[in-house]
Amino acid sequence: MIPWEEIDRAEVPGHEGEVTLLKRGAEFSIRIAGTELMNSRRHGSEDALAELTCSRIKRKSGLRILIGGLGMGYTLAAALEQTEPDALITVSELIPAVVGWNRKYLGHLAGMPLDDPRVSVEQEDVAKIIRAGKSAWDAILLDVDNGPEGLTRKANDCLYGRSGLKASFSALRSGGMLSVWSCGEDEIFTRHLKQCGFQTEIVTVRARKSGKGSRHTIWLAGKPG
Ligand SMILES: C[S@@+](CC[C@H](N)C(=O)[O-])C[C@H]1O[C@@H](n2cnc3c(N)ncnc32)[C@H](O)[C@@H]1O
Repeated sequence: MIPWEEIDRAEVPGHEGEVTLLKRGAEFSIRIAGTELMNSRRHGSEDALAELTCSRIKRKSGLRILIGGLGMGYTLAAALEQTEPDALITVSELIPAVVGWNRKYLGHLAGMPLDDPRVSVEQEDVAKIIRAGKSAWDAILLDVDNGPEGLTRKANDCLYGRSGLKASFSALRSGGMLSVWSCGEDEIFTRHLKQCGFQTEIVTVRARKSGKGSRHTIWLAGKPG
C-alpha cells in the first residue's frame, strides 16, 4: 500500500485549526483535524448535488448559481456541465489555500473547472455571500461540512439554523433551490427547512459514480414560485 504523503497544510481562517492536502499515488485527500472532507476517488454524490439541483430548476437560461465550497471542484464541474453558456457560477471558498491547491495540484481531477469563463471565485465565507444578496441566486449549493453541522469550523453552524436558512430563502429567486450535501440524515434540519418556507425533498445518493459506496443525503429545498 502506497503511504499518504502530505503535500501542504494551511490554517482555517478564524484560528479554527488546520486543513491538510495529502496524496497517495493518483489519489488526493483534503482533511480537517484528521477527518476527511473530500477524497478524489469518491465524488458521485458531490456531482449529484449539482445534477439533481439543475434538473429541478425550471429556469434554464441566465442561471446564477452559488456553490460553497470549492473542495476539489467536482460539484462545480458538474454544475458547469448542466448549465447553458450564459450561466454565471460563483464558487465561494473559505480557505485561500484550497483555491491555490486547485490551481496547482487538483485542477485536472474535475477537468479544470476554474478555467471556465462562467466561473468566478470568491475567497470568502459563503454565509457572508448569502447574507449580502436578496433574490440573487437560482441555486445555492452547500457542501462545506460533512452535514448540517459545522465541521470545517464551528461558525458554519450558522448556515443550518433557522436564521441561516431564512437568509438563504431570501437570497434565492422565486423557484430557486437550496441544496445541501450530507453524509447522513438529520430530521431536525429537515424540520427547520420546512419551517423556513422551503418545499423539501430528500434524496439518497451513493458515494461512487458506479452506484457503490456509502449512502449520502442531499436536501433539495425549493423556494416556491
Ligand atoms: C467537502 S469540501 C467540498 C467538496 C466539493 N463539493 C467538491 O466537489 O470537491 C468542503 C469545502 O468547503 C470549504 N468551506 C468550508 N466552510 C466554508 C465556508 N463557510 N464558506 C466557503 N467555503 C467553505 C472547505 O474549505 C472545503 O474546500
